[in-house]
Amino acid sequence: MDHFLYRDGALYAEDVPISEIAAAVGTPFYVYSTATLLRHFQLFDDALDGMDHLVCYAMKAASNQAILKTLAQAGAGMDVVSGGEYLRAKAAGVPGDKIVFSGVGKTADEIRAALTGGIRQFNVESEPEMEVINAIALELGVVAPITVRVNPDVDAKTHAKIATGKSENKFGIPIARASEVYAHAASLPGLEVIGIDVHIGSQLTELEPFELAYTKVAELTEKLRSEGHNIRRLDLGGGLGIPYTRANDAPPLPVEYGALIKKTLGHLGCEIEIEPGRLIAGNAGLMVSKVIYVKSGEGRDFLILDGAMNDLIRPAMYEAHHDIVAVQEPAPGVEQQPYDIVGPVCESGDTFAKERNMPPLAPGDLVAFRSAGAYGAVMSSEYNTRPLIPEVLVHGDQFAVIRERPSFDEIINRDTIPEWL
Ligand code: LLP
Repeated sequence: MDHFLYRDGALYAEDVPISEIAAAVGTPFYVYSTATLLRHFQLFDDALDGMDHLVCYAMKAASNQAILKTLAQAGAGMDVVSGGEYLRAKAAGVPGDKIVFSGVGKTADEIRAALTGGIRQFNVESEPEMEVINAIALELGVVAPITVRVNPDVDAKTHAKIATGKSENKFGIPIARASEVYAHAASLPGLEVIGIDVHIGSQLTELEPFELAYTKVAELTEKLRSEGHNIRRLDLGGGLGIPYTRANDAPPLPVEYGALIKKTLGHLGCEIEIEPGRLIAGNAGLMVSKVIYVKSGEGRDFLILDGAMNDLIRPAMYEAHHDIVAVQEPAPGVEQQPYDIVGPVCESGDTFAKERNMPPLAPGDLVAFRSAGAYGAVMSSEYNTRPLIPEVLVHGDQFAVIRERPSFDEIINRDTIPEWL
């Protein structure tokens, strides 16, 4: 459920008409709903009710500080994957002891910054990384709390580019080597081993892969405990999928996911962390764009928008489907027609949808891409010197620009010309 609904024939974000935001900030833009963000966070928090737990929002999904602050005020921790994300979370007021640091290639500078600024734990992905964290902790005179990310060799049954839990993927250490790696970690005085981490992929639409992975984690917990390790925290990653099409998508609900966690891991008495990104932000955001031209092609009509692949890259990169709706609600019974919906960038990959049935649209009409809140704005670029598009946050009947569209001067003046030119 989200808070982007039609009222009297017009699409609203909570109590604000989308057309009003478009008039104020221009198109294209991203808009997020505070109520939807909070609702999704709450679903996870409630799903783990009765267990000691922390929901650490995977901020890579949408990392604007206004979004982070909204979630942090509701009690969320953060999952970060770079020094930049760490600093951004801190800037949004998230305390270090609610920030977990994931990622397969943490640099020495990033590790130092997190150990200096405070960190809940590092999710360590390799033995060389473990050695570096140990050395920096000793140099700073602190002890670094860590989990080790294990790769359970489970098929997440999702798009190949976002599956991470098979042994051929670059993530974590093979679960079969866990005893050896944990013994190594325990021998390093700058580290305190507190738990196990696992993340098998993103946009999972079934519970079964989670069940396989979490069952392996439960077995591993008992094994490592019997080997003398005080395993007391389990970080279970993110990955629960969202419905991208209104019509027929019904991925498992957070409450069902929570019940699975209780069933597979509840008996261990561990503190549970989860790192959802997409389910919190995905359906809490739209990308709104304007029709520039309607062009009749050979056997098809193109809807040419002012938004493009640089603004929302998911269709080009993952063949992802996003529902696209007219901001002006089509009259009941109006005949739909198929359009290829494209942006102005000079490559055929700049196609959002093919033969998508839409009501008749004309230049100047607004359309909204649903489910664009996660991995939308954060993955955008200025390809073709197209400015990063603004982000807007709605709260009831209020809205605020939370990232401005840069001017062309700002973009152009970022380049510096060498002396010899
Ligand atoms: N934790 C870790 C260690 C992760 O690598 C990820 C996502 C998450 C949590 C959050 O997963 P989520 O709950 O959002 O599924 N750009 C792609 C998705 C990449 C996901 C990468 N890792 C897309 O647009 O589909």
